[in-house]
Amino acid sequence: MRILIINGPNLNLLGAREPELYGSQSFEEFLATLKVDGAQIDYYQSNIEGELITAIQESRLHYDGVVLNAAAYSHTSVGIADAVTAIDIPVVEVHISNIYRRENFRHFTYLASRCVGTIAGLGLKGYELAIEFLVANFSKI
Ligand code: DQA
Repeated sequence: MRILIINGPNLNLLGAREPELYGSQSFEEFLATLKVDGAQIDYYQSNIEGELITAIQESRLHYDGVVLNAAAYSHTSVGIADAVTAIDIPVVEVHISNIYRRENFRHFTYLASRCVGTIAGLGLKGYELAIEFLVANFSKI
């Protein structure tokens, strides 16, 4: 199963950014260790809303599922949410931190109702669990 991980703004700074919340590992270091049976995993990151929308739109042409951490745009972007709705492959929403233990404005995401499910607060492990879920539930072979 071909899976695309899409990360939104500021997640390129993982490892350096607020390590007490997001951990001390960069996403590239984490990716090098990320292996899930049955999944071929690619990664895309952008700080730009329109680029994320394009990546989500195009994912349907090359992938069977998406793991999406739209970061701050999760709480603000109708455009990203509409892109998720527009594609016909499953999308799992992931947040590294527990957004429900943080500021009120992080408790709502435009993506939650458009995604097959949401994982929040389990650190980088959330990406692995999301991929395992996609393979277990949406693999065609
Ligand atoms: C985040 C949570 C968001 O509220 C925040 O804006 C981020 C990261 C997370 O992975 O915990 O940038 O999506």
